[in-house]
Amino acid sequence: MKRLLLLALLSGSLLYSCKQDSSAVNPFDYTSTKDTTVSNGAVVSAHPLASAAGAYILRKGGNAVDAAIATQLALAVVFPEAGNIGGGGFTVIRLNDGKNITIDYREKAPGKAFRDMYLDSAGNPLLNLSQDGHLASGVPGAIAGIFESMKYAKLPFEKLIQPAIDLAEKGFAITAAEARGLNRTKDDFLKYNTVTPAFVKPSGEWKAGDTLIQTDLANTLKRIQKEGAKGFYEGETAKLIVEEMQRGGGIISYDDLKNYQAKEREPIFFDYKGYQILTMPLPSSGGIIVEQMLKMSEMYALDTMKFNSAQAVNLMAEIERRCFADRGKYLGDPDFYKVPVKTLVSDSYLKDRMANFVPGKAGNSVDIKEGIIPESEETTHFSVIDKDGNAVSVTTTINGGYGSRVVVGHAGFLMNNEMDDFSVKPGVPNMFGAVGQEANAVQPDKRMLSSMTPTIVLKDGKPWAILGTPGGTTIITSVYQTIVDLIDFKMSAHDAVNMPKFHHQWLPDVVYLEKGFDENVQKELEAMGYTIKPRGAIGRTEVILVNADGTITAVADHRGDDSAAGY
Ligand code: GLY
Repeated sequence: MKRLLLLALLSGSLLYSCKQDSSAVNPFDYTSTKDTTVSNGAVVSAHPLASAAGAYILRKGGNAVDAAIATQLALAVVFPEAGNIGGGGFTVIRLNDGKNITIDYREKAPGKAFRDMYLDSAGNPLLNLSQDGHLASGVPGAIAGIFESMKYAKLPFEKLIQPAIDLAEKGFAITAAEARGLNRTKDDFLKYNTVTPAFVKPSGEWKAGDTLIQTDLANTLKRIQKEGAKGFYEGETAKLIVEEMQRGGGIISYDDLKNYQAKEREPIFFDYKGYQILTMPLPSSGGIIVEQMLKMSEMYALDTMKFNSAQAVNLMAEIERRCFADRGKYLGDPDFYKVPVKTLVSDSYLKDRMANFVPGKAGNSVDIKEGIIPESEETTHFSVIDKDGNAVSVTTTINGGYGSRVVVGHAGFLMNNEMDDFSVKPGVPNMFGAVGQEANAVQPDKRMLSSMTPTIVLKDGKPWAILGTPGGTTIITSVYQTIVDLIDFKMSAHDAVNMPKFHHQWLPDVVYLEKGFDENVQKELEAMGYTIKPRGAIGRTEVILVNADGTITAVADHRGDDSAAGY
């Protein structure tokens, strides 16, 4: 311990500090904390070292925004599968003065992108191009988003990025899940990269406890530390990105990078049974759809039904079906397409949508080609609260696991494969099985539609629950179900996170049941006419809940390495 403390003092590093602190972690010897209840502030994220970085910043006097930035940057190092600076995301902030902020740093299509760029000459979709390799990447927004949120931070940026630099430079022990992911993706890393990345072990397989050092990434982070956003979008890093694109047939240019801007958007804010829901507007489809789903739920006595009973799943799956049908038709980047948002969430419209719901009977979706929902851990979510009641909810993504699998040569970070979130051809499902139309067609500089739904639930005007999850289209249904679980079914945060979830997204016309779902309920649903598909984990939900006595419970999802930290 003495040696660790000395190391901490010498390096200014956060991760080795005081023994009593629940967030103190040695990067070479750590475990996940699944549930923690604390008095001051908390962070819950997909990785123990990232949660520790955020909790350290809270203890050092940083606010929730500072801690969120430190967590996000640490995730870019310790969780390469989904943490990122080569992707984008959304941040939802509730400040303790009552201000609501939503920041959009979604990737956008490069200037050279065009509508049919993923179709062959016969008009057939070439999904491998939108999902794998250099042409799959949108212009990354993550670093622009971080600097947009710095407006609300307290501590200097140099301090917030230091934990990530230390982890990249000195290394950390990888988890068993990360070792599996890196081994599984090795062939793709070799196939899609022009410079062999640090993720490829020179010989043999990765195993839990191996040290991952990312020197190129550390140097990129140092350029950002010194030069701010320009350290990414201009100069050496921009040169490395453009050169990588040119070597691999990608189209992101210097101008695309220089012109990228994060945007503050008008938050979605509405009432649900005495609570207020603060969540992300377009280009996230998640906020609008969660608003639709909760408002439709309010028309029925959901709180008198039993959690995950056939009756409750029937109602909620029919709600999900109708909302996802709207998603495919109407939703896209609001800067490029006029979306009838007010109508979509109006009471009269939603009442009409449920007019043909027959309790106890499965509805029916139009029968077109079925998509596949892969069970990867794409995307990542984290939640933060500080001692002053500021709350931050962040979901970021590089889309699929390890994004496009292209690591920018000599810059050390993975690029996203977010172009697949566009509708590459109307009616053709993307990697999440989601179908879209004109509203979400590819256009230069347009942001692709997202499902990411970082959310804050307020009670009596103060943050009560801070939540979100990865999981492609299942993000929206998981956020919806978690809110209903907490409010209608009065479940603990632990159960709301960990109990099995289900998912319906209109097309394919299937109810997915997560493993652990009651087999009798499955039979009842089949008798109602549903096609049921059992599947593996749905999402990795992270919830922070403020208890009636003012203490804070942070719950990390048991489905992954996720971990909570606080003090
Ligand atoms: N790439 C997942 C999403 O944005 O919804």
